[in-house]
Amino acid sequence: MPRVLITGALGQVGTELTLALRERYGVSEVLATDIRTPSPDHPAASGPFKLLDGLDAAGLLSTVQEQGIQEIYHLAALLSAVAEAKPALAWHLNMQSLINVLDTAHACQCRVFAPSSIAVFGPDTPRNLAPQLTSLRPTSMYGVTKVAGELLCDDYARRYGVDVRGLRYPGLISASAPPGGGTTDYSVQMYHAAARGEPYTCFLSSNTALEMLFMPDAVRATLDLMDAPRESLRYPNAYNLAGMSLTPAAIAAEIRRQLHRFDLPHFEVEYAPDPVRQAIADGWPSSIDDAAARQDWHWRPAYDLRRMTGEMLSALTHHPTGGIIHGT
Ligand code: SER
Repeated sequence: MPRVLITGALGQVGTELTLALRERYGVSEVLATDIRTPSPDHPAASGPFKLLDGLDAAGLLSTVQEQGIQEIYHLAALLSAVAEAKPALAWHLNMQSLINVLDTAHACQCRVFAPSSIAVFGPDTPRNLAPQLTSLRPTSMYGVTKVAGELLCDDYARRYGVDVRGLRYPGLISASAPPGGGTTDYSVQMYHAAARGEPYTCFLSSNTALEMLFMPDAVRATLDLMDAPRESLRYPNAYNLAGMSLTPAAIAAEIRRQLHRFDLPHFEVEYAPDPVRQAIADGWPSSIDDAAARQDWHWRPAYDLRRMTGEMLSALTHHPTGGIIHGT
């Protein structure tokens, strides 16, 4: 049973991964860390928590040593839209915190999970079904840090034998914690607006297709990848991961189709593309080929748009209907 440390535990992925890891290994075995203190009702506050900045190399090393940590899930990062606004900070934070985690892992013989992203792709990548092995020439600073991060992880694995693994997460949709500063955040904001009975102004155009995944699938993929035998992994820190290729219009239409189940009023969406985020999205593929993940560690997403929408609206409205759909 590994002792686990999570950086960025209050973020969108960290919130749900903290819960999943505590369920799996026991509450006291999982140390949640972030640069902010959790509110008392946040899942990270349900067990051990420590204020820790991934840029504080000495603090990270001493925490891992003192606590006998064996696995680090490094989730702290600046996402794409914020990184475009603050490129120097994004490079520093995303790269230096990863170096600190990898150095600590090398020194303490920890395993590491370090996520990558669909942001590694760029305009030269095939737009449909972006392959596992393809051109990685991103046109966003976030993408630059993710490509560099994948290569750095490869280097620590080759040079020092650090067992570091990662997935190229697509846009992640979840009901519990909001994403912060990404290009795919519109999807989560759309569900929140619909659940409040409010209109929504979308910052991407209606037909911008991007790969998306529901958080329970993303958490399961993360745990499955960490469980897989290392020798079966051809791309340990960079697996393409796909769920569903969605446009804002498709999500809005599915929300509208299910409004009646949750006694919600009509849902209005306007489109006012934000130039920065639209340009980031236009540089990413519209769908991802995850055949390698399916072959190497038997990845299969469980949620489609219909099922995810039912669960999102159910969770956000606390509606007794529940997310289960018996054919609407
Ligand atoms: N969801 C992320 C973003 O939009 C992509 O990895 O920045």
